[in-house]
Amino acid sequence: MSNLQPPHSNLQIIILAAGQGTRMKSEQPKVLHTIAGRPMIEYVIDAATAMSRLRPIVVAGYGDDRVRATIGDRVEYTLQAEQLGTGHAVLQARAQIDPASDMVLVLYGDTPFVTLDTLRRLIAVHSQANAVLTLLTFRPADLANYGRIVRGDSGRVIDIVEYKEATPEQRAIAEVNSGIFCYQAGWLKENLSKLRPRPGHGELYLTDLVSIAAQAGATVASAEADESEVMGINDRVELARAEQLMRDRINRELMLNGVTLVDPANTYVEATVTIAPDTIVYPGCYLYGKTTIGRDCQIGPAAIIHDSRIGDHCKITASMLEGTTLEDDVDVGPFSHMRKGAYLAKGVHIGNFAEVKNSRLGPGAKQGHMSYLGDATIGADVNIGAGTITCNFDGKNKFPTEIGEGTFIGSDTMLVAPVKIGKHAKTGAGSVVTRDVGDDELVYGVPARPKKKRD
Ligand code: UD1
Ligand code: CA
Repeated sequence: MSNLQPPHSNLQIIILAAGQGTRMKSEQPKVLHTIAGRPMIEYVIDAATAMSRLRPIVVAGYGDDRVRATIGDRVEYTLQAEQLGTGHAVLQARAQIDPASDMVLVLYGDTPFVTLDTLRRLIAVHSQANAVLTLLTFRPADLANYGRIVRGDSGRVIDIVEYKEATPEQRAIAEVNSGIFCYQAGWLKENLSKLRPRPGHGELYLTDLVSIAAQAGATVASAEADESEVMGINDRVELARAEQLMRDRINRELMLNGVTLVDPANTYVEATVTIAPDTIVYPGCYLYGKTTIGRDCQIGPAAIIHDSRIGDHCKITASMLEGTTLEDDVDVGPFSHMRKGAYLAKGVHIGNFAEVKNSRLGPGAKQGHMSYLGDATIGADVNIGAGTITCNFDGKNKFPTEIGEGTFIGSDTMLVAPVKIGKHAKTGAGSVVTRDVGDDELVYGVPARPKKKRD
């Protein structure tokens, strides 16, 4: 989205988000369902915040406590306790419309793709036409249940007819309502009171303002948008389609910013992730949560990375990283699992079938093969032999292990925590270390005993 124009100071934005979203078949309010890792309404709020200096008003209703908890105080709220239609929803926000505003823009929480360019175009049309109301229409491949746009002989919009109430001829109309409207503020406040409940279900339709304006001879204008920007998300099929669209947008932006995606169709990057230029992402990667990846890294194939910070020149092959920090020049994998609190300093090498949890590995430390380190502090240049295990758990409590710099841990060493091993020490293959080991000491056996001082 281009963001060159300063935000308006006379534009009040209202975001409708009170509906349950029955067609989602979910306990969760529809607008909190995620697209590329973010609740869909957050994209709408981002757009609203870029468009106007005035805080947007979110109309919340179904699950409003969850909606508030998720979005926080970036916005103002109004409660629509009973969901009596889109017109009723805007009516709940009427008293909060900023008196300084002369335009009101209504956005839907379930229409998250609209770009700033399109919203600006809508407002430009609205201002040029001096309209009381300007709507954004589109021509979808599948007309679905969208409201149909009825135009009079002059070509002006005179009505919007909802699918369930439309005649067969009206149902065939190819132009439909996106739900996005721009209004003259004074006109909207005055005319909202004219909405009447629909027979049968008693909902107030916001769309009825079109015929109210047309019948009063007031100017109704319209602009058209592309379906990919204004598709509504009503069920899980549309949600999956939205996910695909958002993924394409994210991947495209990454590529234009200098990241190589070998196979974008098989690369899943959430909106919350940042990747620096000259990094290559191979197929089958899932990068999500608060993850940042530095320059010139090789990620994948098949890397799963969540809430992790990765420095420059790192290489991660077929491995899973969660809540992990990697400094520069670290390599991990294939087939290793870095868990919460793993901190790998510069130049650490992790090979295959290694697991690290809540542990710090100092610069240049190596853990090449089939090994578990938990609650450990490992000094610089330590070599962890194949099969080494920190026995950090006695069935009830967790205990720490400490290994000083330059120490060599022989293959298949069991480090029975709590235990401390000094600098430049050595353990023999198969040792079970139950007592602390001093600097430069060599221990071996079961249980491990010192042999002699190394020179
Ligand atoms: C609505 C429009 C339809 C348009 C379509 C575009 C009306 C009557 N219909 O239909 O013309 O083509 O959007 O996607 O406006 N909401 C509330 N309170 C309510 C009802 C809805 O806040 O009482 C919110 C919902 O949370 C949602 C948005 O308004 O974010 C749209 O509601 P939804 O029920 O999805 O409307 P559609 O049937 O899709
Ligand atoms: Ca909808």
